[in-house]
Amino acid sequence: MSHNNAYSILTAEEAADHVFNGATVGFSGFTPAGAAKAIPRAIAAKAKALHEKNEPYQIRVLTGASTGKNLDETLAAADAVSWRAPYQSSRSMRKLMNQGKVQFIDMHLSHVPQTVAEGFFGNIDFAIVEATHVTSDGRVYLSSSIGASPTYLKCADKIIIEINRRHSPRVSEMADIAILPNPPYRSPIPIFHCLERIGWPYATIDPKKVIGIVETDEPDDVNPFAPADAVSNRLASNVVHFLCEEKASGRIPKQFLPLQSGVGNIANAVMAGLGESEDIPPFLMYSEVFQDALVDLMLNGKLVGASATSLTLSPERLKQVYDNMDFFVPRIVLRPQELSNNPGIVRRLGVITTNTALEVDIYGHANSTHVSGTQMMNGVGGSGDFTRNAYLSIFMCPSVAKGGRISTIVPMATHVDHNEHSVQVVITEQGIADLRGKGPIERAKTLIDNCAHPAYRPYLHKYLETSPMGHIRHDLRRCFEMHLNLAECGQMLPDLDLSVFADMCGGE
Ligand code: COA
Repeated sequence: MSHNNAYSILTAEEAADHVFNGATVGFSGFTPAGAAKAIPRAIAAKAKALHEKNEPYQIRVLTGASTGKNLDETLAAADAVSWRAPYQSSRSMRKLMNQGKVQFIDMHLSHVPQTVAEGFFGNIDFAIVEATHVTSDGRVYLSSSIGASPTYLKCADKIIIEINRRHSPRVSEMADIAILPNPPYRSPIPIFHCLERIGWPYATIDPKKVIGIVETDEPDDVNPFAPADAVSNRLASNVVHFLCEEKASGRIPKQFLPLQSGVGNIANAVMAGLGESEDIPPFLMYSEVFQDALVDLMLNGKLVGASATSLTLSPERLKQVYDNMDFFVPRIVLRPQELSNNPGIVRRLGVITTNTALEVDIYGHANSTHVSGTQMMNGVGGSGDFTRNAYLSIFMCPSVAKGGRISTIVPMATHVDHNEHSVQVVITEQGIADLRGKGPIERAKTLIDNCAHPAYRPYLHKYLETSPMGHIRHDLRRCFEMHLNLAECGQMLPDLDLSVFADMCGGE
């Protein structure tokens, strides 16, 4: 151990030594961006060594959202986690959750800071946070994501900081950090424009809580996007077409409204499609994640500015941003997730939201999280923060998954994250179902005709027509027949010839 600044310099192993069995740890990380790296890796190694000696060791893990492989994947592989919130996307962690070995709390990401600050999750023992710099008077300049780190730093008993030299120290010029007081001391949040700033470029801590600093030099492990496949491109062009029509009809004002976009290849293809469309004017984003496709859009002037909580960029794209900070700093604001995803601000700004679902039922209920109602995929993330409060809420998914064995349009969703009251428009590569102003039966017909794959339409229409009459028609004996078929025969309609899906290269 040595000393630098006011704080001790530790090795990752020395830092991990402090983290005791059963501790609740708030790690930085919103996507792999800005996630703690060396210390979670050392905690995993410590867990493995203790388990080999038959000694118990597991921690409770909080983050902003998903993380990099050094955090969720490594800790899960070492069986070092007993409890996890609020979101993850790691194969190993998902497996443990679905085996009932890790308790997972799936929650709206905007709720995380307040939930922690109110004490709903109990004591926070440690905050382990990546930063570019920390001052002796307790200012912490965070790296490529803000997430829930300011709250973890405020609430934790003890703090360890990873200073990652890989990031540009200028990244904190994008940060706008404010912590909302708990009710009843909360006043209106004065954000009236996507780029409005209300806080400071740093989080604040009590320096006495700092155990030490671990120095690192590692990239965020964000993978570049695969080139969009034909299905994603068709889907993206339907989204662009829909938004252009809405604007032409005056339902979206001519200066346009801020956009929110989910993460992933489809979202990336949609953003690229919007960038190419001459009918979409230069626009702003009020979103969660600033991802690869947005760099070019910003450079060519189509994206005027963006509010987000993380720079989720592949190393090449992040370098491009860091090399051009004079250009990007005035155009990007990074906020804590309580503000980037704040329902009140989303409603005030009139955000148009685009998110992806696993399945949507014929009445417009969307399942974003649970495969066949039981197997957790990632979590609801920010999709609910944005969808429920949108000016216009859009859900997207390919019409089929797994080479056509699964229809994403189903009679009844096996789990509902976003219900019929929040989902306004559903778009697949087949077309657009505008559900606004339609009663349940009309919604069902529109969804089946416009969004379901043609091979599944006859089954879905027959289900609708032969189910007992009601405000919503459902046959409770058959509503999950497609899911039961999938479990028993490996495809939702056992007699369907899968060769009809040959053109759906994105389905598998
Ligand atoms: N049943 C079973 N599996 C399905 C399915 C369904 N109805 N629909 C899709 N899948 C599978 C795909 O085949 C794919 O499997 P693979 O990983 O084995 O290839 C996987 O689910 C992911 O689907 P994909 O089409 O690649 O979409 P994606 O990467 O965009 O992920 C979600 C889709 C819904 C899982 C993802 O968007 C998510 O986690 N959303 C919730 C959080 C969110 O919306 N965040 C953004 C808010 S700001």
